[in-house]
Amino acid sequence: MTETSNIESILQEDRVFLPPENFSERVGGAYIDSMETYTKMYARSIDDPDGFWAEVADELDWFERWNTVSSGSFPDVKWFEGGKTNLCHNCIDRQINMGRGDATAIIWEGEPVGNSGSGEVRELTYHDLHTEVCRFANALKEQGVSKGDIVTIYMGMVPELAIATLACARIGAPHSVIFGGYSSQAIADRVNDANSSVVITCDGAWRRGNVVPLKDNVDAATELTDVIETVIVLKRCENEIAWVKGRDHWWHDICESQEEDCPCESMDAEDMLFLLYTSGSTGKPKGIIHTTGGYMVYTYLTSKWVFNLRPDKNQVYWCTADVGWITGHSYVIYGVLPNGVPTVMYEGAPNFPEPDRFWEIVERHKVTQFYTAPTAIRAFMKWGDEYPRKHDLDSLRVLGTVGEPINPEAWMWYREIIGGNNCPIVDTWWQTETGGHMLTPLPGATPTTPGSCTQPFFGIDAAIVTDDGIEVKTNSGGLLVIRKPWPSMLRGIYGDRERFIDTYFSRVNGMYLAGDSARRDSNENFWIMGRIDDVINVSGHRLGTMEVESSLVSHESVVEAAVVGVPHEIKGTGIAAFCTLANGFDPSEELKQSLLEHVGKEIGAIAKPDLLKFTDALPKTRSGKIMRRLLRDVAAGTDSNQDVTTLEDFTVLAKLRSDD
Ligand code: WT7
Repeated sequence: MTETSNIESILQEDRVFLPPENFSERVGGAYIDSMETYTKMYARSIDDPDGFWAEVADELDWFERWNTVSSGSFPDVKWFEGGKTNLCHNCIDRQINMGRGDATAIIWEGEPVGNSGSGEVRELTYHDLHTEVCRFANALKEQGVSKGDIVTIYMGMVPELAIATLACARIGAPHSVIFGGYSSQAIADRVNDANSSVVITCDGAWRRGNVVPLKDNVDAATELTDVIETVIVLKRCENEIAWVKGRDHWWHDICESQEEDCPCESMDAEDMLFLLYTSGSTGKPKGIIHTTGGYMVYTYLTSKWVFNLRPDKNQVYWCTADVGWITGHSYVIYGVLPNGVPTVMYEGAPNFPEPDRFWEIVERHKVTQFYTAPTAIRAFMKWGDEYPRKHDLDSLRVLGTVGEPINPEAWMWYREIIGGNNCPIVDTWWQTETGGHMLTPLPGATPTTPGSCTQPFFGIDAAIVTDDGIEVKTNSGGLLVIRKPWPSMLRGIYGDRERFIDTYFSRVNGMYLAGDSARRDSNENFWIMGRIDDVINVSGHRLGTMEVESSLVSHESVVEAAVVGVPHEIKGTGIAAFCTLANGFDPSEELKQSLLEHVGKEIGAIAKPDLLKFTDALPKTRSGKIMRRLLRDVAAGTDSNQDVTTLEDFTVLAKLRSDD
């Protein structure tokens, strides 16, 4: 839950910003230009979802038309049943067929800065993309990949990452992209769960001038699992790597002699498009299943209307997310390419070589829509206004945020310093499971208030309810649920039907439980308050506290560990860990460092605790449950007068507070 003080400051937030008067002119025509239009269209989308979504689906290409738009009910929902299509076709071939083959599809900016003072840039037209995707798709087939095989992708933010995902979609092989910051153990766990024998990686990835040894990590993963049979390696950093003959193949070698055409596999609307692992409240990440038709239609429409994408209006769209997360899947690649607006991919860090790197890129490429995370905005605020002020950001039209609640200060800074008080901010609430935006302003229509993700997108029946499914009163907190199926919802957790039903469809009867608490204000705007489970949101990245705990106790020195979220200036939520040690181990700075390193190795650097305390015992209830709320207080240095009557041993708490 969000800290109490935070809720109070947010409750007092009543500034309202209307879309700029000349917004429509500035974007070459606003799709949704007033609240009246929104309200009317929203009502229709709820009353007649099939009619609404059929019209949207008709804007895209289908090889065979669907029989029914939507069928089934939670948890087993189908969209566009009987329809045949291919998302890669709609991303690339459809653009070419419409005469846009020579238009820019992807603008890629490498991290290393060259002599010109800018990065290495590659622009791929839809024709270029077609050629590259087809050749790689043919290479995958030659490696034995066929429809239905799950392919793992573990790469940096290079164009070939987009090419690899699109090639998989083209031949009907679902991909499982693993963020390049994850460790070899994390790769092995995911590869095992998905039984994925082909891994696509790079020799290395650039990160702040250093090389992240991706291939080494894959090599280490192959020691932990027998599943991996083929490793395809893209040469990027030219760092030294080990090579296993027969198993490892260079990307350029296997593509060299391939045909430049590869027909699209005809995919059933409900065929799996990809798996994406995300954290939940147990230690084991879950493979979220997304299918083809509904995901395609929903990400296409949300991209179009939430960012007001218009081809032929000189727009350049940039989402800074890594393709390793759902934001990168939906809003770097799959929702954007069918809209015909160039999508920017940037390889590196926001502050490399200088804290103005993002703004330099915005200026040089004349970015019109910019989408990033609150954690990045807070970091920029801290680095200082001089960095954005050095650059001409006049091209910007729409600003977006995603991943975690944005504090009003950061929202205002984004609006003023980046948007010049002239760009609507779309604060988009959604999840890996939802596939696309669920609660979000529409830039030409919705009045916005700092910190609120405002109103549901079309077709989304969102509500805040009690456990009985009854809506709570205005401004009261409750469970955020979605009451009707939507096209891009997850279709399952890979290999774990029980967990799928338990997690999302059992607490509140007949509704999808998002796992967030929220409230709605008197203008009907939604405010996300925080997670209701043991999931924490660190820099907009989702982590399970249990994942970090199991990693800590897997170290020989740790007997028991408890991990909680703690407010963090930049990350939003930081990680605090409390560990009790085994006999023969004593607290020391050295042990602390090796534990942090251990977590980094087991999961990835993003999971390293910001605060680690050794303790003789953890505060527990008489029935042996760890009292996390007390630990949250200790970590945050606050004392919220919590009820400690069930605490088994009062001295534990006093000790934790007095120790450093
Ligand atoms: C969780 C989902 C959606 C892509 C990135 C994260 C939090 C997400 C917002 C927002 C407040 C947000 C929620 C959600 N979240 N967007 N605009 N305002 N909170 O995807 O890793 O699946 O995490 O992120 O807690 O449940 P994810």
